[in-house]
Amino acid sequence: MRNAIAENDKQYVLHPYTNLSAHQEIEPFIITHGEGIYVWDDQGNKLIEGMSGLWCASLGFNEQRLTDAATRQMQKLPYSHLFSHRSTEPAIELSQKLIDIAPDNMSRVFLVNSGSEAVDMAIKIVWYYNNALDRPKKKKIIARKRAYHGITIASGSLTGLPYVHDGFDLPAIPVMHTETPHYYREGRDGETEEQFTDRLAQTLEEQIIAEGPDTIAAFIAEPVMGAGGVLVPPAKYFEKIQLVLNKYDILLICDEVICGFARTGQMFGSQTFNAQPDLMTVAKQLSSAYLPIGGVMLSEKIYDALVTGSDRHGMFGSGNTYGGHPVAAAVAVETLNIYEEQNIVSHVQSLSDQFALGLQNLCDHPLVGQARSTGLIGALEIVENKDTKAQYPVAHKVAAQVANHARNHNLILRPTPGDSVALCPPLIINEAELKLIFERLEKALNDTHASMS
Ligand SMILES: Cc1ncc(COP(=O)(O)O)c(C=O)c1O
Repeated sequence: MRNAIAENDKQYVLHPYTNLSAHQEIEPFIITHGEGIYVWDDQGNKLIEGMSGLWCASLGFNEQRLTDAATRQMQKLPYSHLFSHRSTEPAIELSQKLIDIAPDNMSRVFLVNSGSEAVDMAIKIVWYYNNALDRPKKKKIIARKRAYHGITIASGSLTGLPYVHDGFDLPAIPVMHTETPHYYREGRDGETEEQFTDRLAQTLEEQIIAEGPDTIAAFIAEPVMGAGGVLVPPAKYFEKIQLVLNKYDILLICDEVICGFARTGQMFGSQTFNAQPDLMTVAKQLSSAYLPIGGVMLSEKIYDALVTGSDRHGMFGSGNTYGGHPVAAAVAVETLNIYEEQNIVSHVQSLSDQFALGLQNLCDHPLVGQARSTGLIGALEIVENKDTKAQYPVAHKVAAQVANHARNHNLILRPTPGDSVALCPPLIINEAELKLIFERLEKALNDTHASMS
């Protein structure tokens, strides 16, 4: 063991999303500091954080304005809350700013501390809404296979990845998982992308009819599925799905926890993919991840029903001690100011072609079956046979191998289910840095290929 700190990590830290017995053998990867798009580990290596941490550190790792905003608020009012008519200036300013930049139908914000909490709260709001409308049976939620919505009892139930359910007795709320809009892997022979999209909409409608439309409350979707493999939906996917949802009075929740705040080249992913959500969940890039904060945005139609319910029950009985924490809210306000001043949306748009091309160029590599991206989020799908799209045996963990080799070349990327490797660099990245990412990624693919043959 290289030092006492690493030893103490093994001794005391229970790591999330980690094979616990393997952790006893593997050296922890300890990050000590950061600057711009780079982080340093405790061995002195300077790495490009090609995943913005967990798809979140949009402004990189040393934005002084965020530190200053936190310090100012910490000195002025380090804590207060929003219960029982109380409020704070940062929470009010943040809510107003969010509604200003959100799609027109959004009218209120409920502030929480994480993406999972935002998703849980969105589900509670949908249930409360249907109770207020005297539709007590309309409670089931439809999510998608390979979706990622978090890890709490409700959000983890909606997540459509087995490793999130296994051993935890999830799903534990009424949820159905429908098909994944991943044409490259799920499209049938001879099926066009549009036909594939029609089939998914039809399957959804059949599921709704089989379950009973009056039992289904909402459909939840990430505009681009992130942790499930950066799955970019076909062009008309949301339009077609939304027709089905409207027909059966089913709400659409867009989980914008990754896509929100310019990641896909528009302020929100639902705008990039023509979805018209009734509720939106946000977190991560809301504060560039400098402090934990998330939120649920909802339409006036939903808000009105919550008012009715609150009259009936005496109050809207939900809230977190730290929800809308003034220091986190102040940092989020400053983050949104920076996005506006730097015109982060057009910055992402100006780089998205270079990003897409960098990934597409790697399609010539023998290991790469498909490249996909939108804005500054993308992935390569690794295959053993490019013609048949056959994948390597799971035991090869080929995507993890690519990520390991990338780390040897000082690039952090992320293996995801379906043998894909994801990239989601800080939004402040520039052309030269993007070029460097693709040089390092190509070296990682070459090393992986050499080790497989
Ligand atoms: C789309 C989406 N929703 C929800 C979550 C859960 O967020 P958190 O990890 O902050 O609970 C994530 C996390 O990656 C996510 O990607």
